[in-house]
Amino acid sequence: MPIDLTTEYGTLHLRSPIIIGACPLTAQEMSRIALVSAGAGAIVLPSLFEEQIRTWNQKQGFRATLSTPNEPVPKQVKQLRNAVIHDADSYLDLVKHASAEVSIPVIASINGAPHGNWLDFTKRLESAGATAIEFNIRLAATRHCPDPSEVENSIVDAVQKISEIIAIPLFVKLGRQYTSLSHLAHRLLFKAQGLVLFGQAPEFDISLENFQVVSRWGFSEPGSIASSFESIMRVHAIAPEMPLAASGGIGSSSDLVKVLLAGADAAMVTSAVYRDGPDIIASWLDSLGIFLERHDMGSLKELRNRRPKLFSDEDIRAFYVKALSSQPDPYLIRSANRTLECDRWGHIKTSK
Ligand SMILES: Cc1cc2nc3c(=O)[nH]c(=O)nc-3n(C[C@H](O)[C@H](O)[C@H](O)COP(=O)(O)O)c2cc1C
Repeated sequence: MPIDLTTEYGTLHLRSPIIIGACPLTAQEMSRIALVSAGAGAIVLPSLFEEQIRTWNQKQGFRATLSTPNEPVPKQVKQLRNAVIHDADSYLDLVKHASAEVSIPVIASINGAPHGNWLDFTKRLESAGATAIEFNIRLAATRHCPDPSEVENSIVDAVQKISEIIAIPLFVKLGRQYTSLSHLAHRLLFKAQGLVLFGQAPEFDISLENFQVVSRWGFSEPGSIASSFESIMRVHAIAPEMPLAASGGIGSSSDLVKVLLAGADAAMVTSAVYRDGPDIIASWLDSLGIFLERHDMGSLKELRNRRPKLFSDEDIRAFYVKALSSQPDPYLIRSANRTLECDRWGHIKTSK
């Protein structure tokens, strides 16, 4: 029996649950072809940043003030065009080419603060052919301490605003810093088509050469998605209608199965593709199929029916009652030269 690995992510029908997360790989034609042939369900293009869009808006405004279209382009415009290698115009070209070229959904990504006219640019991305838009929300480091509800309101308003501008799906990539993620997810229902849990900001570092601050995207530790299972399960329990993509540290086919069991409809993967190449996608999809077959399931829909139920208050109480009264397998912690056998709390029982 063929195994059905298709999934729905919002209104997108994906041929497989693996989405390639926003990163420069998806901006390269050869990589895109390899990712598609490895079985990716969708790709997210690297982000276009708020600052790039604001620069583009300024340039448009500046052009509009030119008296005749034949007038030589002033130096300032030329400099703007040359200064930014990956500017908004070249991003629109990228969206256009990538969307025309691959058979799977191409999701454009914007990254910035949840307010301002720069969000209107989403209409351009839609017109350029993006299947959907992912909004990676960057919270500005402001001098004052905003009330968490102010922050939430700005996100909900921005998402509402974008959803009124575009007709294609909008996905919101959230960081981990929200006070009540489930509440926010609930408020975003029917405004966003789905959430990505969790986005990651570029890391700041200090150069020992010139003492300047530098920022770059770091790779995640394989398996570090485990720290997101609880949040994914909670959000899924509170807002089951909200489509979810898990992201951040999916490093094996077991991680892939677990995020789908936790409540995600798709698994977003970036670092693993950098580490192991696009073929890792095909290998995980094979393993996912084998896993389903071994457990007599023919589709991801059947896997969803096997999700553990957790995180209503009653479920949590029942979980602890059971955990405290049962004798779990000891777990082993391996350090440099010995193996520690611990109980569930990490108390060392034996050391070898
Ligand atoms: C080299 C690189 C570039 C990235 N660029 C972006 C980006 O432009 N926009 C964005 O939202 N996330 C970006 N990310 C973050 C990834 O999309 C993803 O959220 C993060 O790496 C966690 O997933 P992973 O553990 O599978 O790598 C980048 C990550 C890497 C490693």
